[in-house]
Amino acid sequence: MTIFVTGGAGFIGSQFIRDWVSAHPGDTVINYDKLTYAANLENLAGLADAPGYQLVRGDVCDPEAVHAAMPEGCDVVVHFAAESHVDRSILSATEFVRANVLGTQVMLDVARARKAGRFLHISTDEVGGDIPEPRAFKEGDPLEPSSPYAASKTAAEHLVNAAVRTFGIDAIVTRTSNNYGPYQFPEKLLPLAISNMMADRPVPVYGDGLQVRDWIHVADNCAALRLVIAKGRTGETYHIGGRNPRTNREVLGLLLDILGKPASLLTQVTDRLGHDRRYAVDCTKIENELGWTRTISFEDGLRATVRWYQENTGWVARAKSGEYREYYEKQYGMQHGTMAR
Ligand code: NAD
Ligand code: TYD
Repeated sequence: MTIFVTGGAGFIGSQFIRDWVSAHPGDTVINYDKLTYAANLENLAGLADAPGYQLVRGDVCDPEAVHAAMPEGCDVVVHFAAESHVDRSILSATEFVRANVLGTQVMLDVARARKAGRFLHISTDEVGGDIPEPRAFKEGDPLEPSSPYAASKTAAEHLVNAAVRTFGIDAIVTRTSNNYGPYQFPEKLLPLAISNMMADRPVPVYGDGLQVRDWIHVADNCAALRLVIAKGRTGETYHIGGRNPRTNREVLGLLLDILGKPASLLTQVTDRLGHDRRYAVDCTKIENELGWTRTISFEDGLRATVRWYQENTGWVARAKSGEYREYYEKQYGMQHGTMAR
């Protein structure tokens, strides 16, 4: 099988590729990634000896480059590539519209032109917007995104569904809740909090810290994605959640306990603009239809995640310093094309 993954050098994409290559060593896996600040090739260092794996540096907004990288008739496209951080989208939304909206349309066009098989589009629970208690966000509910990031992901979903209806492509959308786990860029809450706590540095708590997020381990999410690729129904949307809603303060409290650090490290700061109070996906559909369930409990997953960051302080330091970005520029320039692993 040939599988074309975009954004595979990021947090979730790299987990997906590591898992896929280890489960299907005979497959061809093409990782097409622009290598933005969020990418990290260290996440894929273990694949150096995997014969079917290759990395292509390229932008999903560049149709010629995607066309050249995607083999004719490739079996599956998994589209992770996106600008993914809400705070950055508030500072400047333009790149989010470009990468997430235009990039998705380019991927759909090229996948169709290259006669690709299944197209899995990775979306987010944030497209549903703020979900007041006790409601849970279901697949058929209206989309009411709050942030520029969520709005761009919503637009992308509409383009995917339009391509299904108009051209009959075999596409599926998944919407995942907040992922956590190893190799996550330390701008998102968990890796930022863990790395700051480890260094006895303050952890910024936006507003009252009582916002609710549903946390899922990235490996559980990737298992759900594999199931959707194998058994999902064309044109459907599947929610993937952890059934694990927590306030930010609750999560931070657990991290302080695990690391044995004082609560005085938590520092309330000005709230995020337009901050969604609560996300809550209903993931009954994937559970009932495809038989998926979460396997990693939050307590176990969080302990293992903290341990990973403790054992990989070099990774954290390099990711925080922006060293990778400079390295990629020097090593590979902005040229597209297949790179050595
Ligand atoms: P990430 O920011 O860690 O990685 C994104 C990857 O995409 C990077 O490797 C980056 O280089 C690449 N990329 C960005 N723009 C690109 C472009 N124009 N062309 C090619 N590559 C580009 O993101 P993540 O957390 O791994 O998220 C992956 C996907 O999952 C995104 O679509 C995101 O919206 C979605 N998602 C993430 C979460 C989460 O909790 N992290 C939750 C729900 C959905
Ligand atoms: P984040 O990891 O950015 O994910 P998202 O906003 O996409 O859910 O943030 C998770 C929650 O943590 C969100 O409510 C914002 C909050 N937060 C903080 O309180 N402090 C921080 O430093 C960060 C990055 C996030």
